[in-house]
This record gives sequence, structure tokens and C-alpha cells, in this order.
Amino acid sequence: MSENSAPNPAPGGSSCSAVVGMQWGDEGKGKIVDLIAPQHDAVARYNGGANAGHSVVVKGERFSLHLIPSGILYPSKLAIIGNGVVLDPDKLQQEIDGLRSRGVDTSGLIVSSRAHVVMPYHKAEDAAREDSLKKERLSRDGEQSSVVSEIGTTRRGIGPAYAEKVQRSGAVRVCDLLDPETLREKISIAIATKRASLVDQPGVAATLDVAGVTDWALHAGENLRPMVQDTTYLLNNLVRAGKKVLFESANGTLLDVDHGTYPFVTGSSCSVGGIGPGTGVPVQRVGRVTGVMKAYSTRVGAGPMPTELTGDGEDGKIGDRIRTRGREFGTTTGRPRRVGWLDLVAVKYSAMINGTTGLALTMLDVLAGFDTVRVCTKYEFAGKQTDRFLPDSASLSAARPIYTDFPGFSEDVSAARSRGELPPRARAYIEFIEQTVGVPVDIVSVGPDRAQTITS
Ligand code: IMP
Repeated sequence: MSENSAPNPAPGGSSCSAVVGMQWGDEGKGKIVDLIAPQHDAVARYNGGANAGHSVVVKGERFSLHLIPSGILYPSKLAIIGNGVVLDPDKLQQEIDGLRSRGVDTSGLIVSSRAHVVMPYHKAEDAAREDSLKKERLSRDGEQSSVVSEIGTTRRGIGPAYAEKVQRSGAVRVCDLLDPETLREKISIAIATKRASLVDQPGVAATLDVAGVTDWALHAGENLRPMVQDTTYLLNNLVRAGKKVLFESANGTLLDVDHGTYPFVTGSSCSVGGIGPGTGVPVQRVGRVTGVMKAYSTRVGAGPMPTELTGDGEDGKIGDRIRTRGREFGTTTGRPRRVGWLDLVAVKYSAMINGTTGLALTMLDVLAGFDTVRVCTKYEFAGKQTDRFLPDSASLSAARPIYTDFPGFSEDVSAARSRGELPPRARAYIEFIEQTVGVPVDIVSVGPDRAQTITS
């Protein structure tokens, strides 16, 4: 049997874990991955690209990761970028350089040869599409529409890169970067099909120059070469050898291309279901699924958000206060995040999609100091109450949240290190989440640092 072959049936049980976002991203997955990574041998990303922003604070030092799995901060672990990720080679290099300059050992980083590459023209397409959708909206009535408007993407070329993957012919994978002939051919095909739609856009000429883009891609390939492997065999062989892999999701379940608030979603499968296609490891290898959720809701970009706190009145003021206290500005784009009360209809839906076995509740400290804290447990839609997350954006935009109110807690909870040290009102809030979602809260985060965490 060759070193690459992996026998069936597979040993290894379901010893792997996953960390997934239960809301619209930015739930604090980076910190939770960082916390549970020590119990694993490798950390693998399986979806998304440089649209993600995972922050980890270690001994007061903040690391912002976009493409590299958060496990990189543990030098002994493999940090694997799986085939389901769309890879921007320039962003990856910047991230590697940034980590190295701060003394982080990046030698454990491995990139799948099957991952698709975000090409310069994908970013141009992303921007051109967003601009034309915005122009179209403004030419109608100027209002943000819940059905057709710009998505508010990160403009990192994520959607066009995934679209190219599905269209196939001109798509460039990491393995192609190492094969000049195939690469030139693919780039020529891709550019020929894009020229007509992009040629009038300002500043895109360089992205449509076959020779220039090919040179850029070959250079990117040379930089990547030492890290490139067949991660499908690597990961499956690790699992068969009894090693534990932690799968790190990017974005959030409500941004999942199938299960999120379509069309206001990202281009990938952010839920646990993305692990199979995004790594080649069967999802039944995953036993523990940690669903990360904030103690309130946030969202970046357009799309429905039933509990949003907005406007000039009291709601808007509460929203501003949460935004400021929670530093709710995008790690990737710096955009202010939309803020709202906790939506448990949404979280319960995400728990169902992911088979979540335990919750990690983050940013609880941000809720200190409010007289009342509200939790949405149902929606009213078309004259009826429902506890279902509505499947289309138009309905969800029209849904009115029905709240359960809790007396707030005034105490600063950032120094609590056990549940018993939390004020009773904060404990009641957590218990309500557990009962409503039907999943235990295993981890409570009360501040950005590794140490500011409650696990008992
Ligand atoms: P795209 O992923 O750049 O195509 O953006 C699609 C939508 O997903 C936009 O509303 C983005 O703001 C949102 N999005 C993508 N990645 C993240 C993330 O990691 N956190 C929060 N929002 C995200």
C-alpha cells in the first residue's frame, strides 16, 4: 500500500471537533479555537477566504487572522488550509510575514493543492457587481431592499472565486500555480470570458492582462510551493492515526450559502456540513461541535436582522452603546457592525443545522450595565407567531421579534472565572439560553484574553 493510501473501513471514530459560528460571523470563533486547540493535533480551515477575521488575544497581544487557522499560534500544531478555502496568495503572504515579524513560527502551515485561488479579476468582479447593484438600487428608490440590493460584500473576491470554481473551465487551483502551461491556459480562458463585463470598469486593465496575471500567479505559486500538500490524504491519515483535528469554520451559519439569509450570504458552506466538501474528511469523524454565539447579535453588510437596534430613538442608542462597548467594527473591513438583541430563534436554527453539542457564549461582559436585556424567542409574521427561522429574506425582514425581557446585571463580569462568580442575573440569562436552544453552554467568554474564560 502506498504512503498516500488510506484503508477502509476507517478507524479514528469521531474524535475530531468543529468550531462554528451560530450567527452572522464575528462571534469570537478565533478565541474559542485558540482555547480548545491544545486538545488537538491540527487545526484546519474548510471554507471562506480572506473575508474572515479571527481575533485572538494572547497575553495582551492581539493577532488578527484572515486566512491562516487560529491554531498557528501553537507552534507544535499543524495549521491546514483545506481545499474548501478560496486562497488569496497576496493576503496569505502578508499574514505570514506579519506573524513571522512578531516571532510566530509558521512552519506548521500547510495549504491544500486543491484550494481555489482568488485571482485579481475576482476582486474587480466583486467590486463591479456590488457597484452596479448599488447603482440599480439608487435608480429605483434608494432604499435598501430586503430582496435585491448590493450584498455589502467584503470585496475580497470571495463570491466570484466560488462562482468560478462552479463554472470550472477557467478556475485556478493552487496546484495550477505550480504548472506554468496549465496556468497560462486557464488564465487566458478566464480573462476571455470576463473581458466584456469588466473592460469599462476603472482600474481593472491590469487584472485583464494575461501575461501580467500569469507572472503574478507563477510568483505566488513559487512562494506557496513549500506549503502545498494533498491535504485530503494528510487529514484523513492524521484521523486514522488517532490524531485529533479541529475544524475551524469561517463566517457564520446565517451567512451559509445554503442555510443562511440568502441572497445576503457568503459564497461558501460555513456550517458543519462544509467540512466534508471543504477538507475531504467525512463529517461523521466530528464528534464535538462547539457553536460560538455572542450574547447579542451583530451583522455586517445588508440583509435581514430581525432584532436590529437602529434609528434615532432609544433602540438606536442601545445599539450604539453595545457597538462601542463591544468594539463592533469589522476586523477585515473596519465597517461598523449592525447590532441587535440576542435572537434565539436564529441560534436554535443554527444549532439544528450544525448538530451543535455545546455552546460557547462570548461578549457577556458587554451586556453589563443595561437596565433590561432582551432576548427574541419568537417572531410574529403574517399575523401569526412562529419559532421558526424564516427561509427567505423578504419574510424575515417583515418579521417582528417577540422578546422575553430580563433584568440586566450591573456588575462587571470580566474578572469572573467560574459560573458561580457571575451575578445571579447573568447566570439566569445563560440558563435561559441553554433551555431555549436545548444545548449546554460549555464556555463563557467575559473578555478578549485567553484567561477571561469560564469553563466550569
Ligand atoms: P463576502 O463573503 O465578501 O462575499 O460577503 C458576503 C456577506 O458576508 C457580506 O454581508 C459580508 O459582510 C459578510 N461576511 C463575510 N465574511 C464575514 C465574516 O467573517 N464576518 C462577518 N460578516 C462576514
